Amino acid sequence: MDWGMKNRLSQLIQKDGKALFLPIDHGYFQGPTHRLEKPGETIKPIWQYADALMMTRGVLRNCIDPAISKPIILRVSGATTVVGEDLANENLVTSIQEIIRLNASAASMSVFIGSKYEHQTLSNLAKLVDQCEDYGIPVMAVTAVGRELEKREARFLALSCRVAAELGARVVKTYYCKEKFEKVVDGCPVPVVIAGGPKTETQQEVFDFVYDGIQKGAIGVNLGRNIWQTEHPVAAIRAIRAIIHENFDAKEANNLYEQIKAEKP
Ligand code: 5RP
Repeated sequence: MDWGMKNRLSQLIQKDGKALFLPIDHGYFQGPTHRLEKPGETIKPIWQYADALMMTRGVLRNCIDPAISKPIILRVSGATTVVGEDLANENLVTSIQEIIRLNASAASMSVFIGSKYEHQTLSNLAKLVDQCEDYGIPVMAVTAVGRELEKREARFLALSCRVAAELGARVVKTYYCKEKFEKVVDGCPVPVVIAGGPKTETQQEVFDFVYDGIQKGAIGVNLGRNIWQTEHPVAAIRAIRAIIHENFDAKEANNLYEQIKAEKP
């Protein structure tokens, strides 16, 4: 692996082999998502606890201080919305020149396996990998499920992660599943990070699945709504960070969460 690729990957994945990515890209298909109406304000109290931030070029240019010292994972797929016909009909919407110009540490795009647009999104992944590898930029594939949240089970996720890695993704983002998540990670030759999905009822549920996912081999998370849509985003991200980087279990993380919640701002 060349120096540039190694250097960018080491900005994303920390010395302990783990990673906490904070995505704020949801507006690219949902519009002004709850608590992400002003992305720059949303991340102000929490960005420092993340290892990298994930967003589109529009949010990066307009809402993020260029002096920020955090690696950026640039979302480069899109062109569909929640009110359109099919969320899976995504294309690449950002050029390699833009990825370089914006000094991204990685590029990221969604693949919709099992959908009508499987071939299109997988071909786009291969194209993006070819363009990014020329410049030592890692690609993180997002194994998306669109509205079909029930697809989040081990066989589907394992297939999606493996295919994304075979096409050249350097990191794969997938969902956690309670049953056989280890099969998802074991079948994927590149590091796997877990997305959070819609906000859960309790914070403990998030700590439970993050902890279990890490035990089963995930290197960390790319987790948004279950941090910045909560009532206590700082407590949430610090507790998740403790699971990822300080070997806290889910109960210890919840105790830390309650303790930080109780502190005066
Ligand atoms: C949106 C994304 C998000 O980055 C990803 O789903 C993680 O966010 P959350 O934890 O809120 O699900 O790729 O398509």
